[in-house]
Amino acid sequence: MTPPLLMRHLTDGTAIPALGLGTWRMGERADTQAAEILAVREALRLGYRLIDTAEMYGEGGAETMLGMALRQAFAAGEVQREQLTVVSKVYPHHASTQGVVQAYERSLRRLGLDSIDLYLLHWRGDEPLAHTLEGFARLQARGLIRHWGVSNFDVSDMVELLALPAGPHCAANQVYYSLGARGIEFDLLPWQRQRGIPTMAYSPIDQGALNDHPALYAVAARHGVSAAQVALAWVLRQPDVIAIPKAVHSAHLRDNFAAQTLQLTPADLQQLDSVFAPPRGKQPLAMI
Ligand SMILES: NC(=O)c1ccc[n+]([C@@H]2O[C@H](COP(=O)([O-])OP(=O)(O)OC[C@H]3O[C@@H](n4cnc5c(N)ncnc54)[C@H](OP(=O)(O)O)[C@@H]3O)[C@@H](O)[C@H]2O)c1
Repeated sequence: MTPPLLMRHLTDGTAIPALGLGTWRMGERADTQAAEILAVREALRLGYRLIDTAEMYGEGGAETMLGMALRQAFAAGEVQREQLTVVSKVYPHHASTQGVVQAYERSLRRLGLDSIDLYLLHWRGDEPLAHTLEGFARLQARGLIRHWGVSNFDVSDMVELLALPAGPHCAANQVYYSLGARGIEFDLLPWQRQRGIPTMAYSPIDQGALNDHPALYAVAARHGVSAAQVALAWVLRQPDVIAIPKAVHSAHLRDNFAAQTLQLTPADLQQLDSVFAPPRGKQPLAMI
């Protein structure tokens, strides 16, 4: 079995794979569930060891589907629990201290696991961050989560978070980052880099759109790869960025995994910059 090729480090130094599998839009329909379970199992056989999900996805449906896929994969000896990094997220409207614990317990039941490796606040809501962090702390004290983090936090949110006593333990921030959404390069990415907080890039191929973007074709042709692979390699070229593309199709799963070894040249990067210009000033945090 192929091991994960690229690794990254959470804020406390824990190593996790640089490439994961996203699960948004999975678990929404009964008639696609079997194909999704097969896709997750194929991903595991290919060597994916990081899976991203959330209580929001399919209102629990993605976690349920993932739980079924993992049970089958464990039973078939395709992967062991200890080899996996499972990421899930709590809704902001569940993010009170007690709400976090209850939402977590529901997620865990759906996943059929004993723990979640990285548990994120999905985006900022009205609940004071200190209350949410207390919920995370209670879960950590019970050994139920290894790490906690946030998602869709801009610099001002991160500053507020890190001012709290437990804030510096934030393991990662998951945000929209792709060739088509480079705004975080101006401030958030360097801010996190300075503090050793990794960035998890969601929608790294712009929900599939970058695969059809003519600007990527020339670079892709030079390397004999697809445009989506160029988009992924571009995100993954940075040592503190994790990418979690979602894929169900077998060819997509394979291509995305293989993108870990694609090395873009300075000429490639320059060509991509000429079409997808780096930000020249502060941009509002992009969200999907
Ligand atoms: N924290 C947040 O607020 C947040 C927001 C959005 C997403 N996310 C997470 O990030 C994950 C990824 O984002 P995303 O699902 O929005 O978009 P994405 O990963 O950029 O794109 C997924 C789409 O691209 C297609 N695709 C995947 N690999 C491809 C390839 N090699 N060539 C051509 N098409 C390809 C997929 O098709 P098939 O599925 O048909 O193979 C799917 O339609 C989500 O699933 C979720 O886990 C988090």
